[in-house]
Amino acid sequence: MTAIISNNEKPAPGFVARGLVACPICAAATADHAGRALICPSGHSFDRAREGYYNLLVVQHKASRDPGDSKPMVAARRRILDAGVYAPVAEQVSARVVELARGRTDFAILDAGCGEGYYLEAIAAALKAGGPDGYRLAGIDISKWAMQAAAKRNRDIFWAVGSNKRMPFTQPCLDLIVCMFGFPVWESFAAAQPSGGHVLLVDPAPDHLIELRTIIYPTVARAEAQGSLDAAERTGYRRVEQQRVTFTIELVGRAQIADLLAMTPHDHRAPQAGRESLAAREQLTVTVDVALRLLSKP
Ligand SMILES: C[S@@+](CC[C@H](N)C(=O)[O-])C[C@H]1O[C@@H](n2cnc3c(N)ncnc32)[C@H](O)[C@@H]1O
Ligand SMILES: [Zn+2]
Repeated sequence: MTAIISNNEKPAPGFVARGLVACPICAAATADHAGRALICPSGHSFDRAREGYYNLLVVQHKASRDPGDSKPMVAARRRILDAGVYAPVAEQVSARVVELARGRTDFAILDAGCGEGYYLEAIAAALKAGGPDGYRLAGIDISKWAMQAAAKRNRDIFWAVGSNKRMPFTQPCLDLIVCMFGFPVWESFAAAQPSGGHVLLVDPAPDHLIELRTIIYPTVARAEAQGSLDAAERTGYRRVEQQRVTFTIELVGRAQIADLLAMTPHDHRAPQAGRESLAAREQLTVTVDVALRLLSKP
């Protein structure tokens, strides 16, 4: 039997092999130790978890004991995303990433706040199918629950528990940072990117989940896309593209409707009466409305 190897299957030597992963304690380059840990020259050591990720968020850099999304939030988001509910967003983002990577060698991409890894896995699949001559992928998230779920998706990606506030890289090596429904930290992004690097931001636009918000809140504000770009511009980034992706989704059954609420910040904010109205629904048609913005670092 002949094995067929696609010419496009070209993940570049990874972040670890290139000495690009920084020790979170002393910032020196770490190296792989028998596939089981990362170790820096001073002997700081970070074990590889069973699922295949590294924990690079040391206790002195944690603002709380269990930061980021909780285990139930991560599980709810995974069920919704794996059901294909947000597939058009994954397709648009992946297509744009493939275009940005085309013609490049060793294109390095980080999903900053990657959650349970659905979008980065979609990006990996798109790159494999028709991408550049070489690329490497990394995902970080501050939630260990998100990382446990993400790392199981794809062993070719460098996964780490870490914070957008402290990028675990030794050099400005990231050609593209993807930040979806997340928390960009512009100074830290800028330090991790070479000039000419891009950030692809995906944020809720004014009509995002408008039907759900109308049920749970007495009054609903149609705010502009979350996350002002002032901080990005102060750090030197320039917006070069903006695109809106809008479509409707059908949620069927109380469990799926509860999952959608659980994966959003509305779960913490919704008043009791609103929750009860939502819990009574058996079916819900909801608008997904997101803004894709591409920024570049001159
Ligand atoms: C709304 S979720 C989005 C997850 C994923 N990007 C997606 O779209 O499915 C926000 C994520 O950001 C993570 N997060 C919060 N603060 C962070 C930080 N400072 N650095 C990295 N990740 C962070 C949370 O744990 C959570 O997984
Ligand atoms: Zn060290």
